[in-house]
Amino acid sequence: MINDLWYKNAVIYNLALGTFMDSDGDGVGDLRGLTRRLDYLAGLGVTAVWLQPFQISPGRDDGYDVADHYSVDPRYGTLGDFVEFTHAAKSRGLRVLIDLVVNHTSDQHPWFQSARSDPNSPYRDWYVWSKKKPPNANTGMVFPGVQKTTWTYDKVARAYYFHRFYEFQPDLDTANPEVQAEILKIMGFWIQLGVSGFRMDAVPFIIGTKGAEVTKPTEQFGMLRRFREFLQWRQGDSIILAEANVLPETDLDYFGRDGDRMHMMFNFQVNQNLFYGLASGDAGPLKEALQATKPRPATAQWAVFLRNHDELDLGRLEESERERVFAAFGPDPDMQLYHRGIRRRLAPMLDGDQRRIELAYSLLFSLPGTPVIRYGDEIGMGDDLRLPERNAARTPMQWSDEPQAGFTKSDRPHVPVIAEGPFGYPHLNVAAQRGDPASLLNWTERLIRMRKEAPEIGWGDFDVLETGEPAVLALRYSWRNNAVLAVHNLGAKPVEIALDLAGPEGAPQLIDLRSAKHLSAHEDGRHHLLLEAYAYRWYRVGGLDYLLRRSDT
Ligand code: NOJ
Repeated sequence: MINDLWYKNAVIYNLALGTFMDSDGDGVGDLRGLTRRLDYLAGLGVTAVWLQPFQISPGRDDGYDVADHYSVDPRYGTLGDFVEFTHAAKSRGLRVLIDLVVNHTSDQHPWFQSARSDPNSPYRDWYVWSKKKPPNANTGMVFPGVQKTTWTYDKVARAYYFHRFYEFQPDLDTANPEVQAEILKIMGFWIQLGVSGFRMDAVPFIIGTKGAEVTKPTEQFGMLRRFREFLQWRQGDSIILAEANVLPETDLDYFGRDGDRMHMMFNFQVNQNLFYGLASGDAGPLKEALQATKPRPATAQWAVFLRNHDELDLGRLEESERERVFAAFGPDPDMQLYHRGIRRRLAPMLDGDQRRIELAYSLLFSLPGTPVIRYGDEIGMGDDLRLPERNAARTPMQWSDEPQAGFTKSDRPHVPVIAEGPFGYPHLNVAAQRGDPASLLNWTERLIRMRKEAPEIGWGDFDVLETGEPAVLALRYSWRNNAVLAVHNLGAKPVEIALDLAGPEGAPQLIDLRSAKHLSAHEDGRHHLLLEAYAYRWYRVGGLDYLLRRSDT
C-alpha cells in the first residue's frame, strides 16, 4: 500500500537532547526531559522526532564524535531511558529517527585506541592509514579554517591516519567488509530499541573511496543498497535519511534509479536557493532548483529544511548570489563561518519579522518533500553569536520565563540560554506563545495541520506555474483527482498575478485553505490574485466539496 510510506508525508522535528529539556537539574537536557515534552510535540502536530547523536562521546563535535555506538551518554540517561522514550513516543504516534554517525569515530573510541596501539590489532584495518604523508593531505577539508589537513600523524601508530573532518574524528575504512557488517549491526541494535530509521551522517564520504592514493574519491553506490536491504529485512518501514550535499546530477545515484537506495535525502539545492529567494525576492533560482531536483523514484522523498544545527551552507550558489545572501542575512563577518555559510538561526536572519518568518515556513511546508523543522524555530528562537562557530545556533529551548528559560533547574546550564535582547527567554518562550492565538507557535500548529490536510504535497507530482512575476512561486500538486496550489510572493512589494488553471471542465474554484476567501475565475477564464508583500496562499483546486481532500483517495 502506498499509504505505508509514512515518510512521504511526515513532519519531522529535529532536536539535540542536551539542549532540549533537563529533568534532573544537572544543566544538561536528557531523555527523561524529552519524554516529558512528547505531549508538546504531539500537540504541535509533528509526526517524527530526529535526535542528534546522544551516544558516549568526548563531545568535541557536539556528539558527532562517537566513542561507543551502542550506548547512551550518561549525561542524557541510560539505554533503559531510551527504550522508555521510544515507547512513549510510539504511544503518541510519533516515530523516532536517530543520527547514525559511521563515516568516522572519535579518536577515543576503543576501536581506534586498539588500532593505533597495535599493528596487529583486529581494528587496525578499520581505519585508513599511510606510512608517509600523502601528497593530497592538505586537500578536501570539510572545515577549512579550523582544519588544516585530512591526514594527521599519530605517534602511537607511527603512521598517518585519514580524517575527512576534524583530526579527532578518524575515518572508518568503510570499504572494509567488517566495518560494513558493524554498521549493519549498529542499525539492527537501534531498530530493536524502537527507532524507525536513521539520519545517516556524511553519506558521500561513507561511500567514497578512501586511501593515500585516492586523489578523487569515487562513490561506491552499491553500499547504499546493502544498507537499505538490511534495514528492510529487519523492519520493513524503517528508513534512511541521507545527509548528502551533492549535485542534482547524482541525486538518482543516491536514491537508486529503482528506488532501492536511500529513502530520503536533504534537499540542499533547494535549501540554498530558497535562502537566495528570501534574500533577493527573486524566485527564479529556486524554481530552477525545484526542477533540477524533481526527478526521483516514486518511493523516494526529499527532506525540505530551512535551518539545521550546522551553518547555512551557501556553497552551491553563484558568487553574486552568495554575496546577496550574506549581505541580507549575515553581513557581519562574525555571523559567517569562514565565508562558507551563516551561523545564525532563522528568526534573527529575518529580523524577527513574523510576516517573513511565516513566508519561509509556508514555503518549507509546501515545497516538494517532507518538512524538517528545527527545535525552537516554531517559536522563532534566536542565536548567541558569542558562542563559538556553529554553537551560536544551538542554545537551549526556551520553555518559559522561569530562570534558565524553564530548560533546567540548575543555574549553570552547560550551554547558556539566551537571556537578553529581543530573542531572550523572558519574553520569547513557549508558555507565552501558547496563550497568544496570533503567536508563531499557534500559527505553526495551524500550518502543520493544514500540511497534513494536503497530502498531495507529499505524494503528488508538481508543476511550476508561470505567473510572469519574478518574485512569485506558484506550485500546483496533483494526486489522484486532488490538487493543491501554493502561491508565494517572495518580494517586499505587492503584486497582482493571473493564473490560467482552466481544464476540460472549465476554470475550477480555488478554495482557500486558511480563510474563507475562496476564488473564482474572472471573465477572462483566469484567476486573478492580489498578493501583498511576502504573501502566501494555499488553495485546494475544485469546488467547495474539495475543502477537505476527498477521503476516498
Ligand atoms: C555533518 C553534521 O551535520 C555535522 O554537524 C558534523 O560536524 C559532521 N557531519 C561530522 O560528523
